[in-house]
Amino acid sequence: MSQQTSCPNAQLRWCNNQPFSTQYEDVYFNSENGLEETDYVFLQGNSLTERFQTSAGKNFVIAETGFGSGMNFLSTWKLWQEHAPENARLHYISAERFPFSKEDLQKAMQTWPEFQPFLLELIQQYPPLMSGFHRLSFPDSRITLTLMFGDATNMYSQLTARIDAWFLDGFAPSKNADMWHEDLFRTMATLSHSETTFATFTSASKVRKGLQAAGFEIRKIPGFGPKREILTGQFSSTQPVNTGTPWLTLPLPPAHQKHAIIIGAGLAGACTAWSLVQRGWKVEVIDQHPAAAQAGSGNHQGRCMPNCQQNQSVAASCTCKDFCMP
Ligand SMILES: C[S@@+](CC[C@H](N)C(=O)[O-])C[C@H]1O[C@@H](n2cnc3c(N)ncnc32)[C@H](O)[C@@H]1O
Repeated sequence: MSQQTSCPNAQLRWCNNQPFSTQYEDVYFNSENGLEETDYVFLQGNSLTERFQTSAGKNFVIAETGFGSGMNFLSTWKLWQEHAPENARLHYISAERFPFSKEDLQKAMQTWPEFQPFLLELIQQYPPLMSGFHRLSFPDSRITLTLMFGDATNMYSQLTARIDAWFLDGFAPSKNADMWHEDLFRTMATLSHSETTFATFTSASKVRKGLQAAGFEIRKIPGFGPKREILTGQFSSTQPVNTGTPWLTLPLPPAHQKHAIIIGAGLAGACTAWSLVQRGWKVEVIDQHPAAAQAGSGNHQGRCMPNCQQNQSVAASCTCKDFCMP
């Protein structure tokens, strides 16, 4: 059976329990007030408190470059808990080329007790470090996390989604020129709509010009601490949003009050029901039998023909996940 490709993990040096990347020779977050900077740059930079408060009945979709220690995700999760209405759902999508191990995540976030309940849930579901798409679900918080282990441009160009807010976080452009590339900005544009915002800690002219050329309006605002300026902005182009192929569409349209009736509680019916419930749908399954898998799906032995591939595509991850993962 073929194997999924494992991806290189983050090479770290630790200083006062704070991670430093030896691959990029750069810090993951500001060592003195990383949390406040995250809040200022990414959460306030995208006006998330106000937007979460008014997201009733909606799916709110955030996309990030560089999951790293998970600090941005955990900060967003906390803000979501505090402000989002009960019938809203958050989809958080993040690309990471060099993921942390579970142990490194724990070590990096141990300084912040307020994250511990969320961190525990994240660690429980954190996937093996294999290239491709990994879907994590936190139904009690109405959050879905799609972790894409691989290069940001490569992964986002395989995605069909409607992003509401971008967190552009990927080390300084001077240390990571590969990521801050016009291909990334163009890919962002295909996933954005007229209310999509972005925020980033950098104000490098390469980033500003690249985003402008891709159709984003740019605002320079004062930076955090000693940083002079950072960039925020909104997608302003009138070009049509990429709707993509329907079988790869992610995430689904607003799930609020969506109701499905599924006839048949065999494998197909049960899997479809599970998948819809993960997305917040109300589901009724109707079957002539009193329990699931009582007919053909209840066979004690079956045969499957997985189509395993070694590339990092969505299709490869979906197909192989159930058959090839250790
Ligand atoms: C400053 S750190 C991000 C910190 C992170 N958002 C957090 O909350 O801890 C930058 C991250 O971007 C990742 N990265 C760098 N280049 C990348 C690329 N081309 N594609 C995906 N991730 C990349 C790095 O591995 C690193 O984890």
